[in-house]
Amino acid sequence: MPISIGIHDLALATSQHSLALSDLADHYGIDPAKFSVGIGQDVMSVLAGDEDVVTMAADATARILERNGTEGIRTLLFATESGIDQSKSAGVYVHKLVGLPPTVRVVELKQACYSATAALQFAVGLIARDPSQKVLVVASDVARYDLGSSGESTQGAAAAAMLVQADPALLVVENPAGVYTEDVMDFWRPNYRSTALVDGKGSIKAYLNAIGGAWEDYLAQGGAPFEDIASICYHQPFTKMATKAHRHLATMAGGSPTPAEVAEELDETMRYNRLIGNSYTASVYVALASLLDHHEGDLTGSRIGLASYGSGSVAEFFAGVVQPGYREHLRGEEHRSMIERRTPLDHTAYEVLHKTTLPEDGREYRTARESTGPFRFAGMRDHQRLYESA
Ligand code: CAA
Repeated sequence: MPISIGIHDLALATSQHSLALSDLADHYGIDPAKFSVGIGQDVMSVLAGDEDVVTMAADATARILERNGTEGIRTLLFATESGIDQSKSAGVYVHKLVGLPPTVRVVELKQACYSATAALQFAVGLIARDPSQKVLVVASDVARYDLGSSGESTQGAAAAAMLVQADPALLVVENPAGVYTEDVMDFWRPNYRSTALVDGKGSIKAYLNAIGGAWEDYLAQGGAPFEDIASICYHQPFTKMATKAHRHLATMAGGSPTPAEVAEELDETMRYNRLIGNSYTASVYVALASLLDHHEGDLTGSRIGLASYGSGSVAEFFAGVVQPGYREHLRGEEHRSMIERRTPLDHTAYEVLHKTTLPEDGREYRTARESTGPFRFAGMRDHQRLYESA
């Protein structure tokens, strides 16, 4: 009998600060409904000066380990497109901060917002070879665009840490997966920039095209028909994008849902992302947590689709089945209070933070203490990043 492999535990982390998009709209003198309705975003997470992808990832991973221990973990896959070093994996810093044993392989993966899905599939493969092993898949990203650019309202930051193992408590990952790759310049970040470049409208088309291609391949690989999928969690650069993608797939499957029907259908998958903003490769797993944490009925036995898209571009569609007893393993309270306890910034403070860049000439510096989280980025010395535990 084939073994069941999938997500046993899923923990999110986000930033110290937030910015209400109504404040951004006020600043630019535009109708706030453009953000709340037009792109489907209310608030975005903003990192403090002493936070980065490592501190968020360590926060989420530490909570996974607190509940599950470290036994059996042989691999940590760190997925990000907000890399902090051209050579060293951000995962190695996390490995130390959370106290993992040396007998763990650690590597970083990158393909825009898609890489966490690749990491999850690689994890499933490792466990299929040796079901006694567990894999930590950690996705952590900060979405940053230039001030005044059209992408500014779609910034955000979050990490999602998952413990992947045999006989998981939350979601068994099914075998068929549909994939689609095409070289497109819809969104990218050259090494010399801290903010991304994007062809906004082109990126929406590229996303729809790639998700459509992945869906067709999923069916060709023996995937379930559209009507057998209870809910789909999409990559959400902004939540309205998920509704566009869902209408696209529903139309391909012969349906014609109205925008209101689609918004209602996806609502539970979008609640966290409306308040966090884009978290790039973590986003689709933030959507999964949102669905599991907010669904009032029992999802046991339901097939959940995951639609992952990374600009550039790679897309993947796959599905998983929710496991009996999954509710006892959720972290809804923890996730909601983490989102609520962020400090709201006014527009001036947000702009100051956005304009603050770290010295790039190798000089030593210390960051001011802002984060109240369990880990902080303390500064640079001898060209090395320094992290501290609270
Ligand atoms: N009330 C209600 N709705 C309003 C409104 C108002 N007052 N004003 C405008 N709107 C609506 C518009 O009609 C439009 O809706 P539709 O898309 O359904 O037509 C929506 O609000 C957005 O308006 P605009 O198109 O005028 O907005 P914009 O030019 O400022 O750009 C954007 C929007 C292209 C998404 C931009 O925010 C952007 O470039 N974001 C970054 C790129 C991105 O996220 N791309 C997504 C696909 S790529 C991907 O997924 C990878 C990734 O993570 C980056």
